Amino acid sequence: MTESKAAPRGGLEGVYAADSAIGKIDGELGELRYCGYLLKDLADHTDFVETTWLLWNGELPSQADLDSFRPAMRQERGLSKEILALIGQLAPALTPMDCMRTVVSALCFDDSPSAGDDRATNLHRGVRIQAKIPTIVAAYARLREGKDPLEPRQDLSHAANFLYMLTGQVPTDEEARILDVCLVLHAEHGFNASTFAARVTAATLSDMYSAVTSAIGTLKGPLHGGANTAVMEMLLEIDGVDEVEAHLDGLLARNEKVMGFGHRVYKVVDPRALVLKDFSQKLAAVKGEPKWFEMSEKLETLMKMRKGIDMNVDFYSASTYYYMGISPDLFTCIFAISRVSGWVAHILEQFSNNRLIRPRANWIGHDRRDYVPLDQRG
Ligand SMILES: CC(C)(COP(=O)(O)OP(=O)(O)OC[C@H]1O[C@@H](n2cnc3c(N)ncnc32)[C@H](O)[C@@H]1OP(=O)(O)O)[C@@H](O)C(=O)NCCC(=O)NCCS
Repeated sequence: MTESKAAPRGGLEGVYAADSAIGKIDGELGELRYCGYLLKDLADHTDFVETTWLLWNGELPSQADLDSFRPAMRQERGLSKEILALIGQLAPALTPMDCMRTVVSALCFDDSPSAGDDRATNLHRGVRIQAKIPTIVAAYARLREGKDPLEPRQDLSHAANFLYMLTGQVPTDEEARILDVCLVLHAEHGFNASTFAARVTAATLSDMYSAVTSAIGTLKGPLHGGANTAVMEMLLEIDGVDEVEAHLDGLLARNEKVMGFGHRVYKVVDPRALVLKDFSQKLAAVKGEPKWFEMSEKLETLMKMRKGIDMNVDFYSASTYYYMGISPDLFTCIFAISRVSGWVAHILEQFSNNRLIRPRANWIGHDRRDYVPLDQRG
């Protein structure tokens, strides 16, 4: 190896890759804003579809905007028989995120390939993808259990309809509202890894389906969206408040990452995590099963004491979804059900002022050397 210039730490940490006016994170203050509005205000006063409009248009919608946007989103929930057949073929063998990635990629099948690439076409594609992802996840979950997928219901909200298609039961208003707020909380987060992947794909002037497919593949990893599933797997493995301390100390002694903790940008606690902690506590009481919340809280306290590291958004979303009766391997899909709104917003923003994203590597390899014929190699 030859000597290299002083190597950057890597991971594009601290690098500003493009201009954006969608989600702003203040990591020092622990504040997150969508298009200038504090996330807490949006979580308290809007729902996921209204938040999506904001992210895609940069302004809160008028009543007339919502009166056309809500039905447009609901009407696109259904899946064609070809797409359902594809899910049926994939469901037993693929993980939920692998299935989602493949099926979202295939959604261009029943879209018009001849449509242009103008903003109206891309907005329509965004609506199609966002509306159909919950139906894909629910169909997958039912098909792998040998059940028929349920038709989406037009009279239910985005969150309530997803829970209905998943379980066959219309959820309580409280559960539907909690899930809806979870979707608002996860919708957008600046240049996170999956959003960045979507923008890199869009920046080659590829299409909306390809960019969202790149994002789903990136979200899947346990250092990003896959952390919520990993948190629940950890809680299930520990399985008791008294076992938490020994388990955590074992992980730290082996220098393993503790899932659901740490963040590249937040220097204080992630504001989304605090809302999710409340939801987990509330559902623990409603379900009469405090164990998962209590274990989480003990881990949170000990992790802060041992390493000074705060929880992130994935930590309490795990027990929140588990209390709702959702299978842990679907948790990352729920993240995608929400984050697709941020991906689409960023893809639209990238298309509106595009420049190819093409960084360079810090070279640490060999200097030029001569080719060695096969019979002369040692
Ligand atoms: C989110 C995450 C990838 C950020 O990574 P990053 O900015 O590259 O930070 P690093 O991984 O370099 O961590 C910096 C230091 O904190 C420690 N650290 C960070 N997160 C940790 C965690 N979850 N558990 C244990 N130690 C952690 C690292 O070991 C490292 O310590 P060192 O400097 O002594 O080597 C990282 O915190 C992590 O892997 N968390 C767990 C996965 C997770 O919950 N992901 C969801 C993010 S929303």
